[in-house]
Amino acid sequence: MILDLPAPDTQGDHSLVECTRTRQSIREYSDSPIPLQHLSRLLWSAQGVTRSDGKRTTPSAGGLYPLQLRVLVRRVEGLEPGVYDYLGDSHSLRLVGRLPSDETMQSVGIGDQPWLAESAIVIGVVADLAGTVRHFESQPPVGERGKRYVYMETGALTQNVHLHATDLELGCVLVAGFDNTRATEVFKLSPKLEPMALLCLGHGPSKCQE
Ligand SMILES: Cc1cc2nc3c(=O)[nH]c(=O)nc-3n(C[C@H](O)[C@H](O)[C@H](O)COP(=O)(O)O)c2cc1C
Repeated sequence: MILDLPAPDTQGDHSLVECTRTRQSIREYSDSPIPLQHLSRLLWSAQGVTRSDGKRTTPSAGGLYPLQLRVLVRRVEGLEPGVYDYLGDSHSLRLVGRLPSDETMQSVGIGDQPWLAESAIVIGVVADLAGTVRHFESQPPVGERGKRYVYMETGALTQNVHLHATDLELGCVLVAGFDNTRATEVFKLSPKLEPMALLCLGHGPSKCQE
C-alpha cells in the first residue's frame, strides 16, 4: 500500500541559527501524536528530492544515495501504526510491516534506552554499505572509503532531521548505540541493507524545549 504524504512545509517557524542554538537531545515524549505534516517535513529533510535531476536535501558521495529510511510509526495523526519505507522520488510511504512490540524495540538498544519504545516515531536510517564500498573500491584506502562516505552521509542526514525537529518543536534523539543483528531483524532488512542510525522523535513532555 502506497500513501502520498502532504507536501512538506518548506518555510519553517525558526531560523537556522535559532535551531542550531537550541538543538538538543530529548529522550522523553508525551503521548500526543505528531501531525502527518511534521512527518512529511522530517522525511523530506532527510532524503527529499529537491531538484529535477533527482538530487536530495542531504549530500551524497558521487550522487549514489545509498541511504534509505524505514520508519516505525506509533503515533502519527491519520496514519495506521506500522513500519513504512519512505519513497523520496514520490514523497510517499509504502507500508512494509507491523509495528514491533515495545519489548522488542527495547531489545534493540545497547543498555536501557526506553525512548526506543516511547517515541511517536523511530526513523531507521539504513544503507547499502557493501554496494557503496564496491562502487568506490578504486579509491584508497581500499574497502574503507565507501564506508567513510556512508558514515558521513548518515551524519549529515541525522543533523538535518535534528534541526528540522527543533524547528517543529519536537523532541529528537539520535540513537547509534544499538545491536546491529537485533536492528536488522526488527526492521526486517534485506541482506544487502545495514542499519546505520535510529532517530527517536515525538512531542517533548512540555511544549517549551529551551
Ligand atoms: C554518533 C552518536 C551516537 C549516539 N548514540 C546515542 C545512543 O545510542 N543513545 C542516546 O540516548 N543518545 C545517543 N547519542 C546522543 C548523545 O548522547 C548526545 O548528542 C550528547 O549527549 C550531547 O547532547 P545533545 O545532543 O543534547 O547536545 C548519540 C550521539 C551521536 C553523535
